[in-house]
Amino acid sequence: MTRSGGYRLARSALFRLGGGDAETAHEWTLRRLAALSRSRVALAALRTRYAVAAPRTVFGVDFPNPVGLAAGMDKDGLALLAWPALGFGFVEVGTVTARPQPGNPRPRLFRLPTSEAVINRMGFNNAGAEALADRLAVLGRLDERAGFGRSHPAHADRPVPLGISLGKSKVVPIEEAVDDYLSAYKALSGYGQYFVINVSSPNTPGLRQLQDREYLDTLLAALVGERPILVKIAPDLAEPAIAELLEVCLARGAAGVIATNTTLSRSGLAAADAGQAEQAGGLSGRPLTGRAREVVSFVHRETDGALPVIGVGGILDPDDAARMFDAGASLVQLYTGFIYRGPGLVRAIARQARGR
Ligand code: FNR
Repeated sequence: MTRSGGYRLARSALFRLGGGDAETAHEWTLRRLAALSRSRVALAALRTRYAVAAPRTVFGVDFPNPVGLAAGMDKDGLALLAWPALGFGFVEVGTVTARPQPGNPRPRLFRLPTSEAVINRMGFNNAGAEALADRLAVLGRLDERAGFGRSHPAHADRPVPLGISLGKSKVVPIEEAVDDYLSAYKALSGYGQYFVINVSSPNTPGLRQLQDREYLDTLLAALVGERPILVKIAPDLAEPAIAELLEVCLARGAAGVIATNTTLSRSGLAAADAGQAEQAGGLSGRPLTGRAREVVSFVHRETDGALPVIGVGGILDPDDAARMFDAGASLVQLYTGFIYRGPGLVRAIARQARGR
């Protein structure tokens, strides 16, 4: 059996868990990976199979390879050591908010398998910045290590950078958003190699307003300093709005841009998924491939390459990643592609990136 054939089998079992409820499968997987994170033997075995070196340095941070885990998969950092063992060259935890919050009522995560897509309206369910800080403290502060794995015996030979995505607590009004982001940042600033201001989730009312010039300017002014700060943008912004946002990023010293978050558009879906397409939330996966790449390309051109871009959205095979790099991405991230293709995809992209 081929390795991808092995994942196909695991996937069909996973997709049946909980009567086909996608979040049940997600929780089960995270629990398994968290358990795995505690086993030196299992981590070493996975590392042998999946870890690929294709090093590069972007915004002053050293990455063992350019393929990262996108925000939202491991919001609370429950399985931190498993991701590098599965081949990821960096991990973005979060989005976390200053205050713990339950997110939207379930069901809130839907697979659209024929379209190789997902719709989610999770709504930043997370245990809060303090809880994440406590969990990361066990692995050691940044000043004591080069990556979050360095001080951990199970992982000593392959530290990878940790990004932390910050969002606005739902109960906090938009006028108080800056203080809310700041308090999450303060709790966590010792633990991330880079931070992301997530102003692009469609699932927190009013959040995307923070992409506007004035709000973003104030937010960046408050946060830029000690660590690289990146801004994650929505694929639904028109080019003039992106151009304006980029001006603010450049003027305020943002370290880069992550393009893109999920989309509110419903184009590109297969007829077989028409039922699920009605669900409210952000769409990810194959229907997003073209638009995410367009945004990456626009950011790269508009800034003459001055702002590094992390390309994310609809990367489901190594060619998608290659096109994302060609469009100007310095690094890429996966979420939906990992659900449909498994860790073999991470390895294949990293191997291909070795020659670039
Ligand atoms: C996400 N995404 C996301 N992004 C973010 O910045 N913070 C978050 O908390 C989440 N949460 C989240 C949950 C779920 C279930 C999904 C599917 C996605 C967006 C994600 O990081 C990525 O930007 C998009 O999904 C596009 O990439 P893919 O999935 O097409 O590879």
